[in-house]
Amino acid sequence: PNAQLTVDPAFRVGEADRRIFGSFVEHMGRCVYGGIYEPGHPNADSRGYRRDVLDLTREMGVSVVRYPGGNFVSGYRWEDGVGPVGDRPRRLDLAWKTIETNAFGLDEFMTWAAEAGVEPMMAVNLGTRGMPEACDLLEYANHPGGTQLSDLRRKHGAEQPYGVRLWCLGNEMDGPWQVGHKTADEYGRLAAETARAMKMIDPSISLVACGSSNRGMPTFAGWEATVLEHTYEHVDYISAHTYYDPSDGDRASILASAVDMDAFITEVTATADHVGAKLRQKRKLKVSFDEWNVWYQSRLQADLDRRGWVEAPALIEDDYTADDAVVVGDLLITLLRHADRVGVACQAQLANVIAPIRTRNGGPAWRQSIFHPFALTARHARGTVLRTEPVGPTYPTERYGDVPVLDTVAVHDEETGGLAVFAVNRGPDALPLDLDLRGLPGLRGEAHTTLSAGDDPAATNTEADPERVTPRELTTPTLDGGRCTVALPATSWNLLRFV
Ligand code: AHR
Repeated sequence: PNAQLTVDPAFRVGEADRRIFGSFVEHMGRCVYGGIYEPGHPNADSRGYRRDVLDLTREMGVSVVRYPGGNFVSGYRWEDGVGPVGDRPRRLDLAWKTIETNAFGLDEFMTWAAEAGVEPMMAVNLGTRGMPEACDLLEYANHPGGTQLSDLRRKHGAEQPYGVRLWCLGNEMDGPWQVGHKTADEYGRLAAETARAMKMIDPSISLVACGSSNRGMPTFAGWEATVLEHTYEHVDYISAHTYYDPSDGDRASILASAVDMDAFITEVTATADHVGAKLRQKRKLKVSFDEWNVWYQSRLQADLDRRGWVEAPALIEDDYTADDAVVVGDLLITLLRHADRVGVACQAQLANVIAPIRTRNGGPAWRQSIFHPFALTARHARGTVLRTEPVGPTYPTERYGDVPVLDTVAVHDEETGGLAVFAVNRGPDALPLDLDLRGLPGLRGEAHTTLSAGDDPAATNTEADPERVTPRELTTPTLDGGRCTVALPATSWNLLRFV
């Protein structure tokens, strides 16, 4: 039998926050150097920003960019990256065994972010540093003037404060790999004290406390509970990070990665709500899913072990397949489905490092397979997210048991009346889907765009063949009495648009 999907505007989840379409620029590998910034590149502007990467960032529809790390931030001294470039120190970056030249820093990032049309999201170092340095950074960035640090910013050319609204209180502090790793109590106290002081400087900011580095961490859930007991009243978000690794070749499981992300979000919000109830807090926290992606993670350690201290090495430059694009599309569906509780999300990272945008130093930039579902979702998921309850077959997986073949979400733009239905077929066969849109009378089909991995799941985009994995248009759906049947190709991500 066909799979079934009914969309009805009565079943509202919440607004699709633009901040869900965030990305992440870390001082790691060639994300900054050779990625967004490459002075001397034929395409670079006078400040060294690669125009081709700026164009692709805008085309992707990226809303927020988190900076400067990641694990990097836990050993970073932000003041190394401001002032005359010739005076900036070269430092050891312990996180990635790299020499950091500091040629690019806070002021360069803020100018780049304005040029890219993205909102900056800053992380402070709570690994090797603490509350005073976080306050200094906030004063430099957001205080209008008349103090040493705000005047220093003005001296460096930024007369107006940057007005950064989103701040992460450290990064993955639960991870033993983190420089300055802490217990939940140690981190919770530090984060609470830092949050209180930062909000004294600028009460308009929103703060993110570190949640778990992934759902499989041995401390998961207990970590969130303890951290939030310290920080709940001072923060606005609890973070979540997750990466899905296809290296073991278990295709059925990797295609179901969104099942794990879905459970993760549910568990984090349940934990936050439990602490909120215990503390008699009425205000609900949101999740900042500020690192997520597919990552062939098992390749990293060998890479780090192989080399000494170098500048901007090529690090985790994964080539994404058509299958990976379907997974990324499904992860975006999951983030949207939780629009009532996920307020920020950042795909990690933007350029070269596990990234939708790849570049060659001195050469071109191109779109990886995963670029496409991100760009199309960011463009078309506008308005109110509607809850959908698809009915369809299931299939067995090693990692997650029986999972649905079909995953969906719908977004209704109340201003234009348009409807976007996002649907992933995780299965190896085409899936006929009966759509019932009678709850939204007067619609007509506009387009059925698909990115299908069925024919060639391992296909990638390369410098030589940058358009191999791209979305294609299928027959426009025709509604008859508010219903239609569409065919979702084998292992595919789909966008069905109605106006
Ligand atoms: O995005 C790569 C790394 O993954 C980040 O630095 C870290 O936060 C995470 O473990």
